[in-house]
Amino acid sequence: MARVAIVGVGAIGGALASFLWTAGGHEITLCTRRPLKRLTVETPQGVLHIVARNVTDPAQADAVDWVLVATKAYDANGAAAWFPALCANGASVAVLQNGVEHRERFAKYVSPDRLLPVVIDCPAERTSDDQFRVRGPARMTVEDTLLGRSFAKLFRGCAAKLELTADFTTALWWKLCMNSVGALSALALKPSGVLREPAIERVARAMVAECAAVARAEGACIGDSIDDEVLTVYRGHPADSKNSLLADRLAGRRMEWDARNGAIVRKGEKHGIDTPLNRMAAALLEAVEGEPV
Ligand SMILES: NC(=O)c1ccc[n+]([C@@H]2O[C@H](COP(=O)([O-])OP(=O)(O)OC[C@H]3O[C@@H](n4cnc5c(N)ncnc54)[C@H](OP(=O)(O)O)[C@@H]3O)[C@@H](O)[C@H]2O)c1
Repeated sequence: MARVAIVGVGAIGGALASFLWTAGGHEITLCTRRPLKRLTVETPQGVLHIVARNVTDPAQADAVDWVLVATKAYDANGAAAWFPALCANGASVAVLQNGVEHRERFAKYVSPDRLLPVVIDCPAERTSDDQFRVRGPARMTVEDTLLGRSFAKLFRGCAAKLELTADFTTALWWKLCMNSVGALSALALKPSGVLREPAIERVARAMVAECAAVARAEGACIGDSIDDEVLTVYRGHPADSKNSLLADRLAGRRMEWDARNGAIVRKGEKHGIDTPLNRMAAALLEAVEGEPV
């Protein structure tokens, strides 16, 4: 049994609550900006009504054993405002966000030995204020370390698959190769079927190739057929599925372009690798952010 706080209860925070709940025996605290009256999560295994404490002010929060951060990457500073109370007894912090810069984002708030980046693959969405849906199988990948194994133990017995890896760098960058082309949907204002259009597919392959070149320079083992792998995964998605960049743009919310395409540009610059397509995607998404569509 562990005391676990989830900071940011959106699509992924709701999914995490459902996994902890089915694993059983944990004391769950939901840290949100707006009060959550109840938490109902529809999962492929059934509908769960989760009992958890909800706090909306860091001053009300008590110390826990684990903090799971599930805000968007651009809300890292706001998420960290919860740490002084939640981590008062030295809690470990797992960061479940996209991108490759989990450690950089939280370095000034958490010591490296207590910080665990997590790659999460989980088709999830928030359907209303207190209703969430996990649409399919979920997988979380962490480093095979003491901290990674302790995180995996929290979820023993739940529907999500936990993977421990000795090569976390590759897991992070493989996901970023996938996420890099999500920008095309958000720019075209079309769901993922747009990647099946030949002209868009060519651009997508070139964006993945840029990301893969940077990934290799960062030490990831990414093969030459990564563009085929990425496009095969997208072809397996329903043509009308919307990635979160597109969903956020349509809803007039901020988008995570900086943690995705922006990160590829930044890391590329570090290695002297030019990434013009990802640079353009980041610049265009920044320019249209918040504009009515
Ligand atoms: N959705 C997916 O299927 C999926 C899959 C894989 C990975 N991811 C990644 O997982 C991360 C989370 O994504 P998401 O889709 O769950 O985002 P989301 O639905 O937008 O949820 C983020 C939540 O964080 C909350 N939040 C922001 N600042 C906060 C603060 N200071 N204190 C407490 N709560 C705060 C937001 O609150 P408000 O409701 O008040 O705005 C929102 O409910 C992202 O990095 C995303 O790329 C998502």
